[in-house]
Order: sequence, then structure tokens, then C-alpha cells
Amino acid sequence: MKMSALSYLTPSTRACIRGTTSLVSALAVLASSAVAAPDLPQDPLRDADFLHDGAPSEALVELGRLLFFDPILSGNRNISCGTCHDPARGSGDGLALGIGEGGVGIGPDRRTRDGVIERVPRNAQPLWNIGAREYVTMFHDGRLEPDPEGTFASGFWSPAREHLPKGLDNLLAAQAMFPVTSATEMAGQKGENLVGTAVAEDRLEDAWALLADRLAENAEYSARFVEAFADVDGPGDIAFVHAANALAAFQTVAFRSDDSPYDEALEQGTIDHLPKAAQDGFRLFYGVAACARCHSGPLLTDHGFHAIGVPQIGPGKGHGADTGYWRASGFKDRLEDEGRYRVTFEESDLFAFRTPSLRNVALTGPWGHDGAFDTLEGIVRHHLNPRASLARYTQKDGLLPDLDHVTEQTGAGSQLIFRPLNAARRDAFDLRDGWVQGSPELTARIADEVEIAPVALTDAEVAQILAFLDQLTDPTARDRSALIPDAVPSGLPPQPAPTHPPPTGG
Ligand code: HEC
Ligand code: HEC
Repeated sequence: MKMSALSYLTPSTRACIRGTTSLVSALAVLASSAVAAPDLPQDPLRDADFLHDGAPSEALVELGRLLFFDPILSGNRNISCGTCHDPARGSGDGLALGIGEGGVGIGPDRRTRDGVIERVPRNAQPLWNIGAREYVTMFHDGRLEPDPEGTFASGFWSPAREHLPKGLDNLLAAQAMFPVTSATEMAGQKGENLVGTAVAEDRLEDAWALLADRLAENAEYSARFVEAFADVDGPGDIAFVHAANALAAFQTVAFRSDDSPYDEALEQGTIDHLPKAAQDGFRLFYGVAACARCHSGPLLTDHGFHAIGVPQIGPGKGHGADTGYWRASGFKDRLEDEGRYRVTFEESDLFAFRTPSLRNVALTGPWGHDGAFDTLEGIVRHHLNPRASLARYTQKDGLLPDLDHVTEQTGAGSQLIFRPLNAARRDAFDLRDGWVQGSPELTARIADEVEIAPVALTDAEVAQILAFLDQLTDPTARDRSALIPDAVPSGLPPQPAPTHPPPTGG
């Protein structure tokens, strides 16, 4: 256990806890002996805790803003970063599993159209405070991280290995290199456009160069890159790395969110101003419910990886063909998402996912790496007894958007064709979405790795924890659609549309 998880306690209680074997039982003793409210866990967030000390140059941020909402970065020019990270929808898309390039509509109305081949296999991560320096990995499985040994020139470990270029300002900039090289998210399929073809043929450098060319050919973008970067004197100097650095600067500023009642508590050093139920929830969170074992620090995450048995829905981000699996299931690749294990191949990382930050968590549903829970209460209750929750989980209708038009790609070269799925293949898609949860053997594998011991809380206590989680909502985060520019340099309609109505409900 990390020391920081205990730092809110007084030295004497800390010593008492370290002497015992189980944090949960120690804190149970603590709570039952009616100690005073624990001190607050940490210092408030400061500018220095963010990239560029929270203040990148205006030219860089404005360029990043235009790029973030401009479909020019997608192969078929039909989707932007903002489509999946909508500033009016908690910086996500409001879907359990989104629909990438080729889809139409925004948020819960998003549907497939011609050319969509599959669902995005994981829930779009919220971007709140993603520019905080404390982030040491990116993605649900942390597959992008700094490489201090300098194995790769880029300075980062990533799925692109030696292909990731030099010159990336920080981890968040390195992340921005990837959505554009995902066929499903942004690039499109082989034969549809040059970027999609380069990606399909594993020519990542070419894909990035093609996108940089698009930007260089645009007079407004060229001028803005020259203004924002000392090492860009003309269109010929623009590389995709520059775009990535600008996207990171924008996200750092746009999604900073540290104006919640909880921040006020950190600032004041007291929780007295929080509603009574939230104060009780706070004590449970940092006490008997042991949430802070993993959700610690100012962002309420330890940035570690833990297996908590969230049910697997959708196609899964599987890996590797396996003949035995194929015979049993008819699916070539594993459908269950093995999380951190996909990156490290260490048994202890099976089904472990990065602890999400809980900032603005009330705004970021559906919850879990695959959006399996459509209520905050649902995912909180799941934690209380993950194995039992996994066993009784049934996927609610409507959680996954319908795949009205799914296309498959067959043939190659000049024979390449896209065709609509026939009814039998269409059924196979539905079967695949529910395959893991329908298999007792596969869910047992997920259950076996769960590392949380059951915690018994009353309904009233669950309500108190939810009341505390509500205090993590920064009111300014509810609708940041003002970030969306009215127009973008490509002349394409920005995504989401600048005037789109804010979502109704919570
Ligand atoms: C089709 C939807 C989609 C689009 C488009 C998209 N993203 Fe994402 N984003 C996701 C999903 C899904 C994940 C989680 C992926 C995973 O863990 O494998 C993610 C993860 C991220 C993360 C990591 C957050 C974290 O906590 O580690 C960042 C940052 C991010 N996206 C920024 C961007 C930027 C910048 C763009 C545009 C260049 C973009 N995204 C385009 C869906 C999308
Ligand atoms: C052992 C570490 C651990 C403990 C203890 C823990 N969590 Fe989590 N929590 C996680 C991980 C890991 C996830 C993401 C799982 C996934 O996506 O599959 C998560 C997800 C969540 C989410 C959903 C966030 C999102 O954006 O999808 C909420 C809410 C949450 N936890 C609240 C709590 C509360 C409340 C407690 C205490 C009752 C708690 N957690 C205890 C590790 C933990």
C-alpha cells in the first residue's frame, strides 16, 4: 500500500493501522471507536500541478482547440476528437461503447451508417484534469507510458514502439498520436482514403505525414502553426507531432476542473460546508468502505491497475487468435478484455484496469471500462461485492447503441468490396456483444482475479457515498460546449455542432 493512502490520518492512527494486516478491518475498528472526522487527504490542485504550469501559450491552445473539433484529422473527414469527448457530455460520448468514424449523430443518438465495421471496444475516457502532471500512463490499460531508459527515440513506450516520432512535449501529446491511427475511431478502412490504407498496411509514419500534409495545405492552419511553434517557419515544417503538442495544450486548459465543493474543502482544510450526508459519505469513502485504497490523491486515483470484475459487454479489446477459443466460440480472437495484462503479460495484471479519477464522476456515465453500468449507484454497488455483482449482471436494453448498418470488408486490392452483413452475420454481432457474460467459464476467469473483499454497507450508507461523489462535480463542468468553435479552418462542420442543445437530465 502506498503511504499517500494513509496521509490524511493523524500519525498515531497511521501507526495503529500499519501494525495491522488488513486496512479494511483496521478502519472498521477506527470507525466503530467514533474518532473525529479524518483530516483532508491532500493539498488542493495548483497551476504547477498541470502541464505548462497550467498556462500554455494562447496560440498553442487556440490551435489545439480548432484541431480538437475539426473532422480534418479523420481519414474520411467525418469525425473529430470532440465527437467522442463532447464538452457538453462530461467529456465523453454518453454511450457505453461508442461508434467511431462513419457514424452519424452525437451522444445517445449516434447511429451507424455505411462503412461502420464494429463498435469502439472501450468506453471513451473522460478528459477532466487529463493535463495534470501526475498522470503516468494513458488509456484504460496504461499502454502508453514514459520510457525513462530511452529504449525508443520518442521517450515513450507505446503500441507504436519505434515508430512513434521524437518531439512530443509530454505524455498527453503522445496520446494524441493514436486516435488518428485507429481504423475504427478516426482513420477509416483500407481503400476508403489514403490515411486508412496506410494504417491498414501498418505504415504509421505515412498516416501521420498524410495528415500533416492536409494541415500544411490549409492556409489558416499553416499560419497558426507558424505562430504557435518556434520551429515552424512555413508549411513545409509542419509535422503531426506539432498538432499533437497543440492538442495536449488545449486539453490541459479546456478540461481542467478543480472548482468543486470538494476543492473548496481542500482549500479550506475542512468538510464542514458539505451537506451532512456527503460528510458521512466522505468518512465512509476514506474509512470503512476503503475506496481511498485505490481512489486516492487529489484526482481520486492511485494511477494503479486493479481487477474489480466489471462485467464485459461488447466486442471486447481482445488479443491474439487462439484455436481452442475459436472451436468453442466461433470467434477467432478473445472477446474478454484482459486489461493491463494485454500490456505486461503478467498474470497479476489479468483483468486489471487503471483506477479512474472520480472528478466529475456523476457526469461521466455510463461507467466502467466498457460502460457496463448506466447508473452511478450501479457501479458503486458493484464494488461492494464484485463477484456477486458479476454473477447476476444482465445487460440492459439500450445500453449499447443499435448497429443498424454494419458493413464487412472482403477481398483485397482492386477486388476490395464493402458489403452489408447478411442476417446470419448480423446475428453473430449481437451474439458477440453478449458472449462473455453468457459464458460461465469466461466470467469465472474475470471473477477469479477480483481483488476487493466484500464490504457490507447499508442502503443509507450507499446513499451517503453517492452524496459525497456529487460533491466532486465542478458546476462549470456540466456544460462546456462554449469550447466548440463556430467554424474550423477546414471549412467542414465542427463536431459536435456548436449549437447542439445541451443534453437533458444528469
Ligand atoms: C471514436 C471515439 C473517439 C475519438 C474520435 C477519440 N477518442 Fe479519445 N478515447 C476514446 C476511447 C474509447 C478511449 C479509451 C481507449 C482505451 O483505453 O483503449 C480514449 C482515450 C483517450 C485519452 C486517454 C485518457 C486517459 O485517461 O488515459 C485521451 C487523452 C484522449 N482519448 C484524447 C483524444 C484526442 C485528443 C482525440 C482526437 C485526436 C480523441 N481522443 C479521439 C474514444 C475516442
Ligand atoms: C481495489 C481498488 C479499488 C477500490 C478499493 C475501489 N475502486 Fe472504484 N474503481 C477501481 C477500478 C480499477 C475501476 C475501473 C474498473 C473498470 O473500468 O473495469 C473503478 C471504477 C469506479 C467508478 C467508475 C468510474 C468511471 O469513470 O467509470 C466509481 C464511481 C468508483 N470506482 C467508485 C468507488 C467507490 C465509491 C469505492 C468504495 C466503495 C471504490 N470505487 C473502491 C478500483 C477501486
